[in-house]
Amino acid sequence: MLISLEAAITTLQRGGLIAFPTETVYGLGALANNAEAVEKIYAVKERPKDNPLICHFYSLEHIESYGITVDVVSRVLFQYLTPGPLSILLPLPKQSPLYPATRGRETILCRVPDHPMALSLLLGVEVPIAAPSANKSGTMSGTIAQMVDETIGSEIDGVVDGGLCTIGIESTIVSVGNETVTILRPGSIGIQEIREVLDRVGSSYSVLYAEGVEHPVPGTRYRHYAPCTPLLLMKNAWEVDKKKKCVVLGTEEGLEETVFGDNELRGVAHCLGTRKRLTDVAKNLYHLLYQLDKKGLDCIYLVDEQYGTSALGIALQNRIERMISGG
Ligand code: TXA
Ligand code: MG
Repeated sequence: MLISLEAAITTLQRGGLIAFPTETVYGLGALANNAEAVEKIYAVKERPKDNPLICHFYSLEHIESYGITVDVVSRVLFQYLTPGPLSILLPLPKQSPLYPATRGRETILCRVPDHPMALSLLLGVEVPIAAPSANKSGTMSGTIAQMVDETIGSEIDGVVDGGLCTIGIESTIVSVGNETVTILRPGSIGIQEIREVLDRVGSSYSVLYAEGVEHPVPGTRYRHYAPCTPLLLMKNAWEVDKKKKCVVLGTEEGLEETVFGDNELRGVAHCLGTRKRLTDVAKNLYHLLYQLDKKGLDCIYLVDEQYGTSALGIALQNRIERMISGG
């Protein structure tokens, strides 16, 4: 059920659960200090109970008003890159009222979303909103209200409709320590964007991706971001099993290289966008896969292609690997 912002505010204040848009993906929100409401998030998402919830705030000052200490570098990242798709892991004070969202951890993942509706909600309720992505655990994050409403709408108190999310994949998650900014989950903000900010303020901290770190973020332990239909990587058009009811998904360039050579496949190919504009690919990925998921296909072939080393390229490669490997 679609609801207005005003209704969403009162629903949250009464301990309800609502889904709302952010610039990355839709969030499934409850007041972070309401233990009962937070429990409902776990029930609806069928999420493992040890997996903590990201918390949304309306500003850096809002974060600090909860007694959370923001170190100098995290502060600079918040100041320059948020509101925006960057989430920062910070120490959580003992006996914080936000403990329901953090599952006994000594850290809290803080995010200031860049979306007018999300910010209005946060200003309206005044309390941080705990909100993982609005989807069942392991499935693709909802990036359009209809997708959220169809998948979990009947189990929650409403969905605020903000159209298609502009970014389409989840925020970059970082932790700051040991003179390093470590990217725990790649997103549309990457090394270069963070480096630029650090250089501007003369910080010598290094920035790196957390390769080889064992599950720095609990959610990365589980199968993720996957449609229900079997998803197969396709290197060449001849790999397509024509006896199967299937479609091929790739970028314009990827399809041209691997599919369009074979006229028979033209009808089943769907385009994610062009590799020259990865913002389109990111924006379309979950939404398109979700639409294809409803078609009762035997499988979806995803063209095996390289998205490059930009922040979005790395983030897309990461999500696709996780979808395919189920790891
Ligand atoms: O773009 C986003 O980040 C979206 C929108 C709604 O804000 N949210 C999102 O939430 O992607 P979620 O729960 O699907 O992913 C957040 C990840 C999870 O893997 C979770 O395990 C991890 O962040 N996380 C949350 N709190 C944490 C904490 N205190 N310590 C370590 N990891 C944490
Ligand atoms: Mg998620």
